[in-house]
Amino acid sequence: MTAMAGSVKSPNGNIEVKFSLDGDGRPVYEMTYKGKAVVKPSHLGLELAKDKHASAGYKETDLTGGFRIVGEKNSEFDETWQPVWGETKDIRNHYNELEVTLEQREKVEKYTGDGTNLGVALTDRLRTMILRFRVFDDGIGFRYEFPQQKELNYFLIREERTEFAMAGDHTAWWLPGDYDTQEQMTQETKLSQIRERFPKAVNWSNSSVATFSPTGVQTSLQMKTDDGLYINIHEAACQDYATMHLELVDAKTEHLSEMLAGSSNDYTPAPQKSSYPLPQPFTFVSHLTPDATGLKGAMQTPCETPWRTVMVSDDARDMLASNLILNLNEPCKIEDTSWIHPTKYCGVWWEMIVGKSSWNYTDEFPSIKLDQIDWAKVKPNGRHAANNEKVKRYIDFAAKNGLDEVLVEGWNVGWEDWANMWKRDVFDFVTPYPDFDIKMLNDYAHAKGVKLLMHHETSSSTQNYERHIKEAFALMNKYGYDAVKTGYVGDIIPRGDHHYSQSMNNHYLYVIKEAAKHHIMVNSHEATRPTGLCRTWPNLVGGESARGTEYEAFGGSNPDHTCILPFTRLQGGPMDYTPGIFVTKLSTWSDNTSWARITLAGSLALYLTMYSPLQMAADLPEHYEQFDDAFQFIRDVACDWDDSRYLEAEPADYITVARKAKGTDNWFVGGKCDENGHTAVVKLDFLDKGRKYDCTIYADAADAHYEHNPQAYTITKKVVKAGQTLKLREAPGGGFAISLIAR
Ligand code: NOJ
Ligand code: CA
Repeated sequence: MTAMAGSVKSPNGNIEVKFSLDGDGRPVYEMTYKGKAVVKPSHLGLELAKDKHASAGYKETDLTGGFRIVGEKNSEFDETWQPVWGETKDIRNHYNELEVTLEQREKVEKYTGDGTNLGVALTDRLRTMILRFRVFDDGIGFRYEFPQQKELNYFLIREERTEFAMAGDHTAWWLPGDYDTQEQMTQETKLSQIRERFPKAVNWSNSSVATFSPTGVQTSLQMKTDDGLYINIHEAACQDYATMHLELVDAKTEHLSEMLAGSSNDYTPAPQKSSYPLPQPFTFVSHLTPDATGLKGAMQTPCETPWRTVMVSDDARDMLASNLILNLNEPCKIEDTSWIHPTKYCGVWWEMIVGKSSWNYTDEFPSIKLDQIDWAKVKPNGRHAANNEKVKRYIDFAAKNGLDEVLVEGWNVGWEDWANMWKRDVFDFVTPYPDFDIKMLNDYAHAKGVKLLMHHETSSSTQNYERHIKEAFALMNKYGYDAVKTGYVGDIIPRGDHHYSQSMNNHYLYVIKEAAKHHIMVNSHEATRPTGLCRTWPNLVGGESARGTEYEAFGGSNPDHTCILPFTRLQGGPMDYTPGIFVTKLSTWSDNTSWARITLAGSLALYLTMYSPLQMAADLPEHYEQFDDAFQFIRDVACDWDDSRYLEAEPADYITVARKAKGTDNWFVGGKCDENGHTAVVKLDFLDKGRKYDCTIYADAADAHYEHNPQAYTITKKVVKAGQTLKLREAPGGGFAISLIAR
């Protein structure tokens, strides 16, 4: 077959995508940047489940080959839109598009007869699939689309086979591919070293772990080539579809999708050894998260896959400034967004994470059944943090310091045996413990201009949550909560399902949509990693989906961790990283010997370098009172922006960013570095010319060090104007924060 071939270039001409069919009618694409190969010719397609559920009486066949091109359309698009909250006031969505319509005509076996006299006959079948490529100046997105059609209505995905053939043995910042967790430390290796490093990279301490291949990695995957190109692979608008992982073909790969020996999840059906033809080494092949049946997706046309994205630039700052993922999502679907607001909060939280107090109210029982306990009669353990007195203390602290909300965890019954029990009826989300007066505390908070922030730990018992959700949100409306932190600790119930499957992704979106109906903002922990859905549903104001600050109490994270996350996890949306730990050595106030690998000034920097419209001040009020002059920065810093300029960046080394606070002329600048320290050079050319700014610099002291001297900081005040340059020395594991208030 002589294939037609299409191509499309980015608006500035730097990126080009070419599309063609190979001799077997298999779709192939390739991508270049300034003439250099970013993705070498790579196949596209989907394998469909063949054994069960034959579609419309056919013996199912794949959508991987046998195609011909029946239509090609090039178009351009350029619009500027305004996010409800964000890093900039305006976002330009500018791309050129190539739409390729493919037709697959084949002879397939169709079951005949009436059930008693079953036969098989060969018949002709015609199926249509569209591939849509959007090429921006900073990368590409493409997806598969399946129009409604006679011969393709329902189909089951066995595996998506999207290939990304890399042009060399790039350096990669990766997490082990896992169906249930992203709470690992990022690994930095060459692609060829992933297999060897993999066993050490798995975080077995997490409460739900399911790896699938010794070369499986997660997205967003950040890479750097030997000649200085930054390449990032991720996905956008993942809805009604499973989360994508990438399986690397290396020199040792014999077949795709092998199960990693020794996986803790021995109840996970092992993926079969695939007969899919092996691409060349250094090719990533998509690997979707299975559901409890082992299948990857149940589709009904018309439908489409999420966008597969490849960002590229020769300047690392472009990776951070990119809006490609948001642009590939649909516009906001919430009509009235007036109730969605940026939020700074503190919480009855860190002291439980550290182990000084408890979520549960009693230690009396080895296990509990929610409907069989008279909570008024049980013996309190004396360590329950979510009590009236303590919550009031946090509310007072928030009110005094201009924080908007107070998260309270452990307020509701069920924490006695909440985690890892595969217990269906674990929480009801509406019954407070006896020492938490929900009405009084909300009234007390509201009188001081503060709101309480709801907590719904689901323990991954998703049907239980869905059964209770309307009542739970109604309770929130009744008492005046407008934000909920949800959580998905432990293996998914119903059993066998995974955190990132199609069914779970549908669950998270259901919660977001239901919350929107109740005017509730959502911050999901342990949920699927974000893919820009917050553009469409801006009440999704935050999420965890990575290793957050809690790990500083579980053994610690490397100092460079926060210099990687903006390149990876944050590509899909903001993270509730819960920064702001001032007293980093936990043993000074608890029995916990873990410590946070960051200086105090570095902690302040995170409010700028880890963009989120929801920011926590995670440490205890008394710790902030001890360092009140430094806490001034957290009081002052904005969490919604009219403009953002990434001034310096290198993955895992340093990030320096300047941001202009929403609706003001004030700027804030933050710099965060790894364990080696860094000297940031900040040219104040973003300031208004001729104007004076009161500048306060919170910096590491000369002898500061994340391990030996984390609390050594200086605060310097001066008046500055555009044209000046500031040089800021960041200590090992440190950083700086600057406020620039326009006069
Ligand atoms: C894990 C979350 O990340 C953490 O923030 C929360 O406190 C616990 N689960 C309990 O829900
Ligand atoms: Ca977590």
